[in-house]
Amino acid sequence: MIVSIASDHAGYDLRKKVAEHVRKLGHEVLEGGAEASDVPYNYVDAGIKVAEDVTSGRADRGIAICGTGIGISVVVNKYKGVRCGLCTNEYMARMSRQHNDANIIAFGARVVGQAVALAMVDVFFEEGFAGDRHAARVNDIKALEDKNFK
Ligand code: RB5
Repeated sequence: MIVSIASDHAGYDLRKKVAEHVRKLGHEVLEGGAEASDVPYNYVDAGIKVAEDVTSGRADRGIAICGTGIGISVVVNKYKGVRCGLCTNEYMARMSRQHNDANIIAFGARVVGQAVALAMVDVFFEEGFAGDRHAARVNDIKALEDKNFK
């Protein structure tokens, strides 16, 4: 897969570890966002990078990291076609794929440690969408997008 990964300054150190891990899993990484942990970088711009890579088709999946994961998850979910789960543990990452067909995962570098982050990333790539009743709900989300996005 091609995976877009971006973060603000708060997520910089964890992003570097995550990007290295994702490359080792055999994926191609498009990396963006902050260039250092001590130079402020707006999480909105990092979210735009991931969301635009995914919605344009440049990337198959996205990983969005800021301090809490909240700001950047709000940003990417403003894009039509993005289903981003803000996750703090493996179970949430698993459910984001099985039930929500998430195409972007967000997490907070000030909230989760590296081991949890990498475990969530593994699950995010391993798990499939369960379909059935969940497909109907994702279709309801798509209908909402058609109604609310210009
Ligand atoms: C940066 O200080 C912080 O506000 C940001 O990383 C994120 O947590 C916002 O939601």
